[in-house]
Amino acid sequence: MKVLMVCLGNICRSPLAEGILQQKINNLSLGWEVDSAGTSSLHAGEKPDIRSIQVAKTNGIDISNQRSRPFRGWDFETFDWIYVMDSSNYRDVIAMAQSEKEKAKVKLIMNELVPGKNIAVPDPYYGEFGFENVYKMLDQACDKIVGLN
Ligand code: 4NP
Repeated sequence: MKVLMVCLGNICRSPLAEGILQQKINNLSLGWEVDSAGTSSLHAGEKPDIRSIQVAKTNGIDISNQRSRPFRGWDFETFDWIYVMDSSNYRDVIAMAQSEKEKAKVKLIMNELVPGKNIAVPDPYYGEFGFENVYKMLDQACDKIVGLN
């Protein structure tokens, strides 16, 4: 299984989602691949936001080696599932799909935990929604993705 996590900047939410899922893949010896990308290239080449690095570290995960990269059309070919964080990411990724098959790969990540409710993982960049809350949401969603809980 190849999974891609997508947010806007690929510096706050999707790097955390990648790190969390990678840890579960390792713990369960699943042999899956996980990567992350942003719908914007604004932060391309940058490390994750220090606040994401910190909350991951607190939870025993090192995401400091990740670098932001933009989502590209060929990611539809590489990945089996493309998990987006909010409806704006969903629109941006779907707009790049070239077939119904590609569109069907794109899912809101919180729908894994609460099916059909289209709950967003809020953008924590400006600080109103805490990074610890983002971590908890993604940790629960990733448990579902790997079949735990
Ligand atoms: P992310 O958060 O999409 O979770 O990586 C953001 C990072 C940067 C910006 C917005 C959201 N920005 O506007 O620069």
